[in-house]
Order: sequence, then structure tokens, then C-alpha cells
Amino acid sequence: MKILVVGGGGREHALAWKIAHSPRVERVYVAPGNAGTAQEPKAKNIDIAAEDIDALLRFAHQEHIELTIVGPEAPLVAGIVDVFEEAGRKCFGPHQKAAILEGSKSFAKSFMKRHGIPTAPYASFTNLDQAIAYIDSQDPPLVVKASGLAAGKGVVIAHDRGAAVQAAREMLSGTAFGAAGREIVIEQFLQGEEASFIIVTDGVHVLPLASTQDHKARDEGDRGPNTGGMGAYSPASVITPEIHDRILHEIILPTIRGMAKEGRPYQGFLYAGLMIRPNGVPVVLEYNCRLGDPEAQSILMRLKSGVVEILEASLEGKLHANHADWDPRAALGVVLTAAGYPGNYCKGAVISGL
Ligand code: AMP
Ligand code: GLY
Repeated sequence: MKILVVGGGGREHALAWKIAHSPRVERVYVAPGNAGTAQEPKAKNIDIAAEDIDALLRFAHQEHIELTIVGPEAPLVAGIVDVFEEAGRKCFGPHQKAAILEGSKSFAKSFMKRHGIPTAPYASFTNLDQAIAYIDSQDPPLVVKASGLAAGKGVVIAHDRGAAVQAAREMLSGTAFGAAGREIVIEQFLQGEEASFIIVTDGVHVLPLASTQDHKARDEGDRGPNTGGMGAYSPASVITPEIHDRILHEIILPTIRGMAKEGRPYQGFLYAGLMIRPNGVPVVLEYNCRLGDPEAQSILMRLKSGVVEILEASLEGKLHANHADWDPRAALGVVLTAAGYPGNYCKGAVISGL
């Protein structure tokens, strides 16, 4: 079979690498792919951007792609799964109205409130004066978040009132993140240890993937700015079997049931970004409607079962009949960045000598 992976990061390389292991797969196309996917024996890069849904669909028709797997959030939030499905092409990921769990932090917060899912106390705003009044009523530190998609950069941890007001002003005025910041969420800062809990779901059944933790601070010794992830390891030892159970029953299952109840059945990867509080209580910081990057790299390295079979079972609503085997050994991935990341940095530099 022929498979199309949408995206061009390390996560998509890990997916393509794992998919290519299947004897059923003759070719993995990656759009647009990267220098790593270009070196995989069964993979081929296609020069189509991950957001160009029409061109991706045309390509899928032309090449008779049997399964498309979407890596990044932007095409999912833009409705790629709906477009493919209407055209009769199998596409793995949440539909547009389910991807809103990542596409709107304001929606995600109110959804968690409606369904009793633990998350930090918060309020949402589109008006600066109201946001400032709320900031004045709270004790810092506060976390100010652009509600819409901001490529993982839309979160400011404000240690004092001034920083919170400045973040709120820059976001709401549109200067920081454009339309994505026209609505903001302000929430309480939570102490604890972060972990990523990622599952596959067919809308009813849930298959948890191996736990991971990504490392956010850019520099050695936990210093420097927060990034999208400088590396990840699996398993995350902070997720003990008891905490795993709590996450499943207090967070994941209520999320899947709640989305179905609200007429937004969720099928695809679902990523809960968690803070494990010092007392062991798991709390949701955010939802993502996809695999994490760089979490996927360490998860897929440990997956012994076939990923294609798991995703097919999910698309058919038969995930309960599937089971994932994991390599008990740990996996660790490290990210190298260009100087200046995550601010403005030079793109396209060549890495050699590996
Ligand atoms: P998010 O995109 O919402 O996950 O936020 C990005 C990062 O900001 C998280 O991975 C955390 O490191 C941090 N963060 C977000 N919300 C909070 C919070 N309420 N308390 C502490 N840290 C947070
Ligand atoms: N590593 C964080 C993310 O994928 O959102």
C-alpha cells in the first residue's frame, strides 16, 4: 500500500520510518518531508506544503494513496480530514470540529469546566480592560495564552502584574500573534512536573501510547527560554501506574465521552499536556490534536506493534481489538537548534558530520 504523511518535522520522519517497516507498505510519501525523510529507503519527499489541502488531495487521488496521516495541527484545525473524507480518501486525524480542542484554548478550557476535567482556574477575554481587571484580582505568577494557534509560542509565563498586562496587551492588539491572540486565556500558574500523555482513539475506545516527557528549557541546566521541545524521553517515570490510571479515568475518558456528547466525536491522536502536581494529581495544561514533536520520536522508537494496523483499527472503530507492544527499554531524543531559536533564527543551515 501507499501512504502519505503530511508534515516536515522530526515527528513526520519518525512516522515515515516506522511506517516503512511494514511489509505491507510499498511507498511512504512525505509532504513536504525533510532531509531525514529524504534518506529513508521507502520514503519519498513531495514538494507540497502541509497546509495546502487541495494539492495534497489531488496528489492522494493521483497516486491512489490508501491512507493519509497528518502530523501537524494547522491542516487538522483547517479541516483536512473532512475534505479527504468527503472525497472518499482515508485520512487519520480528528475532524475539524474535534480539532478545536487544540485550535481554541478558550474552547478547551470551557469544555474542561463543563465536564469536570481538572485544569488550572482561568478566565477568557477579548477586551483589554477586562483582562487587566482580572489580572489585578489574581496573585502572580499568571500564565497568559493566545487562544488560537501560535506555533507553540503563544504562552507567556508572567511573574508579575506588569508582565501579565504587557502580554495581554500585545496579544489582544494583534501585534504578537495576529488573529490567534484576539482572544486570550489567563490562568493560574501551576507547580509540578510536566508529562505528555498521548493516545489513539476511534471516538469510543482508547489506546494509550507510551508516556513521554519533553524538555522545554533551551539551555543546559534547565535555563533559557521555553521551546516547543529540546528533546523527549519515554517512559516518563513521573507517570506511575496509579497516576496513569487517574489520567485515563479523570482526563482521557471524560474528554472522549464529552466530545461525543457535544456532537464533536474525536478520532485520531489526542495529546494531553499535563502538570503532575506535587501531590500526584494530574491536571491538563493543554490539549493537542496530534502526536507531539519531539515526543513521537521516542514513542515510535519503542513501539513494537505495527503503527499502520493501529491507525486502520482506529479508522474502522475497532481499536478495542488492537493492542500495542512496547520495547521495555527507554528511548531518548535530543534536538539540535540553530543559534537564536526560538526567537528569530537563520533557517536552512546544513548539518554535516553526523
Ligand atoms: P501550553 O501550550 O498551554 O501547553 O503551554 C506551553 C507551556 O507553558 C507548557 O508546556 C508549560 O511549560 C507552560 N504552562 C502552560 N500553562 C501553565 C500553567 N498553568 N502553569 C505552569 N506552566 C504552564
Ligand atoms: N512537544 C510539544 C508539542 O508537540 O506540542
